[in-house]
Amino acid sequence: MNQQSAVVPFFPCVVGADVVEYRDRGLIDVTDPSSGAVIAQIAACGPDEVSAAVAAARSAFDGGEWSRLTVTERGRLLHKLGEAITQNAATLAEWESRDTGKPHAQAKADMVAAARYFEFYGAAADKVHGESIPFLAGYQVQTIHEPYGVTGHIIPWNYPAQMIGRSCAPALAMGNAVVLKPAEEACLTPIKIAELALQVGFPAGAINVVTGYGAEAGAALTAHPDVDFLSFTGSPEVGVLIQTAAAKNHIGCTLELGGKSPQIVFADADLDAAIPVLMNAIVQNGGQTCSAGSRALIQTDIFDAVMARLKEGFAKLTAAPWKDDGNLGPLISKTQKARVEAFIAKGGGDDAPLAARGQISKQTSEDGAFVAPALFGPVAEDHILAQEEVFGPVLSCIPFTDEEDAVRIANNTDYGLVASVWSADGGRQMRLAKRLRVGQVFLNCYGAGGGIELPFGGVRKSGHGREKGFAALHEFSQIKTIIQNHG
Ligand code: NAI
Ligand code: MG
Repeated sequence: MNQQSAVVPFFPCVVGADVVEYRDRGLIDVTDPSSGAVIAQIAACGPDEVSAAVAAARSAFDGGEWSRLTVTERGRLLHKLGEAITQNAATLAEWESRDTGKPHAQAKADMVAAARYFEFYGAAADKVHGESIPFLAGYQVQTIHEPYGVTGHIIPWNYPAQMIGRSCAPALAMGNAVVLKPAEEACLTPIKIAELALQVGFPAGAINVVTGYGAEAGAALTAHPDVDFLSFTGSPEVGVLIQTAAAKNHIGCTLELGGKSPQIVFADADLDAAIPVLMNAIVQNGGQTCSAGSRALIQTDIFDAVMARLKEGFAKLTAAPWKDDGNLGPLISKTQKARVEAFIAKGGGDDAPLAARGQISKQTSEDGAFVAPALFGPVAEDHILAQEEVFGPVLSCIPFTDEEDAVRIANNTDYGLVASVWSADGGRQMRLAKRLRVGQVFLNCYGAGGGIELPFGGVRKSGHGREKGFAALHEFSQIKTIIQNHG
């Protein structure tokens, strides 16, 4: 612990009805990635603290006040939490920017989205109902959607406030009690939002937050025998650990593991509309977005012309501290910066020439985690920059000849999260939409991160299960079929 960290605020855990300062197992410094300065501390929790949170959730679910609320009352509470996020948006957005480094405009937009998750699921809570199924003479059959019980949620650092909403709001709407382990790199706003939940009247144990390292607090949560379902967003490597832990306890999980999402631009596309969106899809949040559009597939006829425009655009992009609202902020940490720069260093050869780099604003600190955006092209479709998730502001441009070639290249990665098709031909848009091996397809648009209402998730290395929209309500509940012989 350095001297500076002794005076910074401590962000506690939320367990049951209490805000708890678990200081015994050590503290974690939370840094501002623009400068490396310590801005807060959190507890490095382990199995005991996780067990306390799971026990609090279990009591809430099994007979506690939370379990006795009507579905309408649950919905109202979720809605109130959404309103509280909106009322506190200025403070929350400032913490989000300081914690993650993201431009302030982005953090403010994130608070609108975080509030929307709670409002959307608050309004949806009492609209999930079962079926009546025709069966044998003298029988009546109906289905009901039941919560799992205690759900465990592990979220990453790229959109902390949005992620607590995306992961926890649908689980709560269905009546589960949640235990959240946010990322050690950025977890201040989820803690604040859980505190707000207590203030707006959530009963004890409905929402619990335990901080700490993934290998300690995270692993303890995923292995806990009293957790009934897991939801994870993060790396494919940890996704395997989560799925393995779920298998050992015979429970289900949803995994959202990122992507290598293609943005496919045909020669008949409206380039004035496409190019700014193409750039924003990889620059937003510094490219640290699961659904970042990290590959641009550009038809050969227009490849050079599009590259020329992208080059011009990329050269002007500036990474700056959050207060300056640059095109992007720093990356989350020096570790991620080193990872992204290592990827960039793999380019530069004939199979992935570097076409342009953006800038880092002059005022930035030596200790910041800034990376100048990088544009590569034409990149060979099997190059590492066309295959692996960089999770930084790096766009790989790949030429294609025709529809068939575009589909083949787009589907030629292990990932499959999101894709976009830019073309004036409506038939082509739909033909591609059906053949792309992803969970979401944007036609003449791109919505990295947006769309609370829209089912979202991936295939293969991008994970499985669907979040957002009504689909998430089905993920966080299971059907019970009741068969009555009434004679
Ligand atoms: P990570 O997968 O290690 O971290 C995500 C979350 O998992 C954090 O809360 C972390 O504490 C937790 N975690 C880590 N190890 C765990 C374990 N053994 N058991 C339970 N929980 C555990 O991701 P990391 O290391 O922060 O980033 C590495 C790469 O992962 C990134 O460069 C990016 O490619 C990818 N990633 C993708 C994200 C997405 O939105 N799909 C988000 C974050 C990272
Ligand atoms: Mg990790």
